Amino acid sequence: MKGSFITLEGIEGAGKSTCMAEVLTVLKTAGRDVLETREPGGTRLGEELRQLLLGHKHTGMHEDTELLLMFAARAEHLQQRILPALHAGRWVLCDRFTDASYAYQGGGRGMDMKRIQQLENWVQGDVRPDLTLLMDLPVELGLERAGKRSSPDRFESEALAFFQRVRKAYLEIARREPQRVQVIDASQSLENVQAQVREVIQRFLEQQA
Ligand code: TMP
Repeated sequence: MKGSFITLEGIEGAGKSTCMAEVLTVLKTAGRDVLETREPGGTRLGEELRQLLLGHKHTGMHEDTELLLMFAARAEHLQQRILPALHAGRWVLCDRFTDASYAYQGGGRGMDMKRIQQLENWVQGDVRPDLTLLMDLPVELGLERAGKRSSPDRFESEALAFFQRVRKAYLEIARREPQRVQVIDASQSLENVQAQVREVIQRFLEQQA
């Protein structure tokens, strides 16, 4: 049986880690072999690029550089880990993927979406996630939740308006691709969010059967 490629997206404080754990539990209970990974990162090189992208060492990084480094990490991740896993029949559960480039670099930074699309086509060919869970909540609530964590990274240091543009771009993708992108109301209680996530994954598993 062919594996499926599932991604998780959302603004800071949306509860992706909780969602990740829930998806993993449902898939493992259903007997699926799952590769759990993240972007930027997922490989040794990718994790080093992640440090450059999220750290404060290169605060003034040009937006083109930022986008290219995201896709450089993605190329490595796809070729070295994601594609081999999918070809071996494993499932891949990835914390963020290319929708994050559209949302953060496209929406947040205001970069040309066509540029991102060109890189997507070049780096990924026709590889796209089979299912994406978008953890959605008001930006103020997300930032309040994220604010309770330790020192903010380079993205978490952005202003409210940046995240409002990120959220808008994510919701626009969900509107365009309602089949692939399932929106989870992440403003609800933990139990409620977990239940929404379970339902989406169980329905997806039934469709694959
Ligand atoms: P996180 O995985 O801990 O949420 O941190 C990753 C950060 O990187 C997050 O702020 C979103 C950002 N990001 C982009 O800006 N573009 C991308 O393509 C990806 C994968 C992440």
